[in-house]
Amino acid sequence: MLKKKTIEDIDVSGKRVLVRCDFNVPQDENGNITDDRRIVAALPTIEYLVNHHARVILCSHLGRPKGEFNMKYSLMPVAKRLEELLNKKVPLSKDVIGDDAHRLAKELGEGDVMLLENVRFHKEEEENDMAFSKALAELADVYVNDAFGTAHRAHSSTEGVSKYLPAVCGYLIQKEIEVMGKALNNPIRPFVAILGGKKVSDKISVINNLIEKVDTLLIGGGMAYTFFKAKGYEIGQSICEEDKVELAKELMEKAEHQGVKLILPIDNVVAKEFSNDAERKIVKSSEIPNDFQGMDIGPETVKLFAIELQSAKTVVWNGPMGVFEFDNFAIGTNEVAKILSSLDATTIIGGGDSAAAVEKGGFADKMTHISTGGGASLEFLEGKVLPGIACLLDK
Ligand code: 3PG
Repeated sequence: MLKKKTIEDIDVSGKRVLVRCDFNVPQDENGNITDDRRIVAALPTIEYLVNHHARVILCSHLGRPKGEFNMKYSLMPVAKRLEELLNKKVPLSKDVIGDDAHRLAKELGEGDVMLLENVRFHKEEEENDMAFSKALAELADVYVNDAFGTAHRAHSSTEGVSKYLPAVCGYLIQKEIEVMGKALNNPIRPFVAILGGKKVSDKISVINNLIEKVDTLLIGGGMAYTFFKAKGYEIGQSICEEDKVELAKELMEKAEHQGVKLILPIDNVVAKEFSNDAERKIVKSSEIPNDFQGMDIGPETVKLFAIELQSAKTVVWNGPMGVFEFDNFAIGTNEVAKILSSLDATTIIGGGDSAAAVEKGGFADKMTHISTGGGASLEFLEGKVLPGIACLLDK
């Protein structure tokens, strides 16, 4: 397992500490933050640094402003939210590496916190440009990466800057790699993975990696239909990646070869159209009518998954079981969240939609760990080394 130095392994007192967070949070059209989990998840690291008399310079990206200043992507709403949560002033610099950032960084007293404007207002950020990384590093004495959600990107603020400053991880990254790393490398068994989402192509590497580690793999969501096709079922109008049918066959063979139970839905909620109010019915997986499309796992599948999960001691879940954005087809996803909340097991929710489902259903505090990463947790589950973690000092 990766053993990286953390904020507790270095002296931060009086030092200027550049902390890369993932404050890429969703907002409504008026700029109100609609989900502040990523900000809340960064608090333990920020509070530790404040309590240990560091001068804290936070930085993050927000959205994809493509290297140009754009007010729509300003971190101002994040600065405001941080002020509320930390109960102290968090000034936002007008620039990232310019005069205003330097002035604010210089003015910081021990235990003070500031936030740099969106690092992606510079195109050099995503290019991992050396000069830009160096300029960021010049603001501080120490670098802390706590942006797990962006750790799969080798950008200046997530990777490049580590070449110029002592680099360690914060509590959020530490927790993410400890919990998910243990599940992958040394799980308490039975180990069950639940994978959903639209496309097999998005999950090939995860399935491949997990087949070598789990005892049981439960598959739901849109990608199940490509597997049905591989089994020779008629799937009506359901989503299918024709060019992945062969691969789905291979994955099923691989699972069998490894002695892993790969379980597909046995029934489905199908609909006439792709809309919440479409005419719908429940059918067996091998009996999807020609003019219907699969939208959710059915009640028998939920029961089957519940039985498979009952004895699990480690569960990893990534991806919704159906068209979760439509309430009428979110039942399977919500039921899986509910089942997980009742288990006596380590339950790990890989970011994105499954995390949202758990949160929406009110089950968040019943899970062992909800990852703050979408793409990052997927890459972690694929077994990849994330550049934003690899670059940190080893213990
Ligand atoms: C995310 O939301 O997954 C992270 O913040 C990374 O954002 P990105 O995909 O724009 O790099």
